[in-house]
Amino acid sequence: MADYDVIIIGSGPGGYVCAIKCAQLGLKTACVEGSGTLGGTCLNVGCIPSKALLYASHQYHEATKNFSKMGLVADTPTINLKQMMNYKDEIINQNIKGIEYLFKKNKVDLIKGWASITSENQILVNEKVYKTKKIVIASGSKASSLPNIQIDEKIVVTSTGALTPKNIPDKLIIIGAGVIGLELGSVYSRLGTHVRVIEFLDHVVPSLDSELQKHFKRILGKQGIKFEMGAAVSSTKIIKNKCLVSYTKRKDNSEHTDEADLVLIATGRVPRIAELKLMDLGLNILESGRISVDHNWETNLKGVYAIGDCVEGPMLAHKAEDEGIAVAELIAGQKGHVNYNIIPSVIYTHPEVASVGKSEDELKEEGFDYKVGKFSFMGNGRAKTVFCSEGFVKILADSKTDKILGAHIIGPMAGDLIHEICVAMEFGASSEDLARTCHAHPTYSEAVKEAALACGLGAIHS
Ligand code: NAI
Repeated sequence: MADYDVIIIGSGPGGYVCAIKCAQLGLKTACVEGSGTLGGTCLNVGCIPSKALLYASHQYHEATKNFSKMGLVADTPTINLKQMMNYKDEIINQNIKGIEYLFKKNKVDLIKGWASITSENQILVNEKVYKTKKIVIASGSKASSLPNIQIDEKIVVTSTGALTPKNIPDKLIIIGAGVIGLELGSVYSRLGTHVRVIEFLDHVVPSLDSELQKHFKRILGKQGIKFEMGAAVSSTKIIKNKCLVSYTKRKDNSEHTDEADLVLIATGRVPRIAELKLMDLGLNILESGRISVDHNWETNLKGVYAIGDCVEGPMLAHKAEDEGIAVAELIAGQKGHVNYNIIPSVIYTHPEVASVGKSEDELKEEGFDYKVGKFSFMGNGRAKTVFCSEGFVKILADSKTDKILGAHIIGPMAGDLIHEICVAMEFGASSEDLARTCHAHPTYSEAVKEAALACGLGAIHS
């Protein structure tokens, strides 16, 4: 007799959403979490705390740089870092309590401890055996490191350490110009730290449309962030309270060093699966270290599924959530589906950067016959009122059918604006469909309509 219909391992966005959906579909469900609090990386040491610090530091920037322009006269605010951390922790706690409440409301049992999988129908937590019909692995990911780098989470930190600073460093070196590096680099830069990013490639954020990469880097440069591109970091060495970073410039193989009070390693993340003791079961693991699954997220072990960061695809909370829902539906005997072509990605800097669908580079590579509609936020009255008119909306559509193939936005609230394009794409819309949809004035979203118009006869305000 099984104790549960389904046990989900991990309570991050993939795991807890899957658990709630399973319970809503009438399955007897438990979720196992070993880290002490619910919510996984996203809630405890990722998306949510970083957004709190991005918000707080942006407000500080507004108060020190833009208030006086609007005739708001006040003493220059100072930073109480301890209070800023309290604010961040309070937000985290509220969200953790929210998941606890949702588990109770939906009758999801929480099993506290680290789970290992002992067979297709059995897991072990704190030496107690739980029998289950199905297992969903949602164990997430952890920060990757580089050889010759010792992370102490004080001077050489991952995003986890960077989210809990004891003081504001004078200088921060960030290794890796990906999403984590640039979001946290923005936080520190706004708080007054000299930020230098050392990146292996010649462009920022590998997955981004190359036009946005250039524009984004230029904007961050203007905000004071320094970049050393095409440079491979080889080692770090802590000397007293500082860290020496050694790197090689790829163009001429010259060796260099730089020193900082804080070094952030932001060179990607790797799946977290060691605790599950999966190898003993013969579970297929890909070369990338991720768990191999079929199109129904089922592993080679019958009834054992895997979702989120520990399987292939972008390491994004919302991708994990959607996979969690789809797997719950499949386990309950329904159809489950995730459209991987329409998964938005957002960088929560200022301005925000958001993308969905194909980049222009991908369309070129794949030989698509496409057209581009672009509109600058310079022509958007609302963006001017918030000092944020530097960016643009770019819509890519099929030249013949006008079907939207992708969209890329850098500008105010880009992370929210992208979703009307996601919905349009889900319904197979053309750029003309977007352009003929009435958009309220004055909103940032008018820039989306204008970019859609630019795919046709032309935008009005450019
Ligand atoms: P990333 O993969 O986005 O970027 C890592 C960067 O480090 C790459 O540009 C790479 O070329 C560079 N790098 C690697 N080795 C290096 C070396 N030796 N020297 C210099 N540069 C080197 O990884 P990141 O930023 O750590 O993010 C991890 C994951 O978390 C990503 O999948 C990201 O999408 C996700 N994430 C998403 C967020 C969001 O949606 N807003 C926020 C934070 C993370």
